Amino acid sequence: MAKKLWGGRFSKKTDPLLEEFSSSLDVDKELALYDVAGSCFHVSVLKEANLISAAEYRAMYGGLKQIFQAIKSGTFKVDESSEDIHSDIQNKLEKKIGTAALKLHAARSRNDQIVFDVKFYCKESCAEAGLLAIDLLERIQGVIDKSEDLILPGYTHLQHAQSISLKNYFSAYLEMLARDAERLKNLAVSIRPSLGSGALAGTNIDADKYAKAIKNVCKQLGLVYDKHIFAVENSVDNVSDRDFVIEALSALAIIGMHLSRLCEDLIIWSTKEFGFIELDDAFCTGSSLMPQKKNPDSLELIRGNTGKLYGNLMSVLTMMKGLPLTYNRDMQLDKEPLFSSFKIIKDELKILAKLIPTIKFNKAAIEKQLEDESLYATDLAHYLVEKGIAFKDAHTIIGNLVRFSLKNNIAIKKMSDEELAQFSKYLNQGVIKKIFDPVYSVKSKKSVKPRKLK
Ligand code: ARG
Repeated sequence: MAKKLWGGRFSKKTDPLLEEFSSSLDVDKELALYDVAGSCFHVSVLKEANLISAAEYRAMYGGLKQIFQAIKSGTFKVDESSEDIHSDIQNKLEKKIGTAALKLHAARSRNDQIVFDVKFYCKESCAEAGLLAIDLLERIQGVIDKSEDLILPGYTHLQHAQSISLKNYFSAYLEMLARDAERLKNLAVSIRPSLGSGALAGTNIDADKYAKAIKNVCKQLGLVYDKHIFAVENSVDNVSDRDFVIEALSALAIIGMHLSRLCEDLIIWSTKEFGFIELDDAFCTGSSLMPQKKNPDSLELIRGNTGKLYGNLMSVLTMMKGLPLTYNRDMQLDKEPLFSSFKIIKDELKILAKLIPTIKFNKAAIEKQLEDESLYATDLAHYLVEKGIAFKDAHTIIGNLVRFSLKNNIAIKKMSDEELAQFSKYLNQGVIKKIFDPVYSVKSKKSVKPRKLK
């Protein structure tokens, strides 16, 4: 069993069951880099506060830098018997530099270490995921640009509603992704990894020394973080707060919901019944029994993952409910859902960015659906409005016309002018031909201006 960061007041060893039950190393090892970075700031604070000598500082800083490099290069291996990543790094530093490392934990607690690490991780991950959302947005814009003239049947209640340009339709996903990227960017800016909370009450070191140390370390490491790492303002709130986790999980759940809707559209469009698109083989899988099958598994998994994303959000919201201030061990359980949601969303954004440009539209199947006269009923009602008929009356007139067409199994386009005139004197085949046209229908929607987002 690796050395613990506590133990003096205990007369017995921890029960092995609790040892295993309470260990967080398996999850929080993901935070190794942030934890070492936090320690680099902390030793600099200790030096500013004259709590360590210049030689001790050099030894500690040098040792931490080596650990930092090992993590970056992938050669860092955790000791599985450590209680958590904080203990593991402390033990590694002790092995590297000896007794000087024993001074590292002055004026800090794992309570402020963990929130620093998670905030730092969350800040970077939000920025990264935001960039991936923008990348997907650009790929979708590419598809729109390539198929600018394509018109599709649009649906409400999954029933034919009105014809719509692909540009107008797909731009909805651009808007969603732009909001997602903005949400993540704002979140990244708002998260404040802070030093100096101690366990909860603050430390005996002057706030100015924290600010000075942060500046120094950023300069030395060539980091741009001097405007992103802070001396703590409210230590009680800092160690108690997991709002930023909940906000990140919420932003990720919303992205997951958006992506699930995009995937559902693509799944439906790729069915034999619709046949609007063909998905690339590289993003589909087959059946072990039915040789003909090509299934949109990638899209289904993205749709399915939404359950996990919502579950992760709910689990942290519920875990935080009613917790007394300040830190409680319950809060250790925030990381698994947080890491899981970031991984899911990053993977999904990357997969879709590859999949979307490979979609092939089947124009013949789409045009066949555009022949459905019901798609133009609203346009026809509006034509009557332009002739001065009240919309409610126009709605009834066209409703009657559609009912007559369905009941007698005769297409409106095939009716005589006399038949049409029975419904309204303004109706004749010349008008029908002009209005029952997808290009005319789309062009007549003058209120919409789908934005180009990239
Ligand atoms: N592993 C803990 C967490 O993730 C941090 C350790 C704090 N433990 C403690 N007993 N104060 O929240």
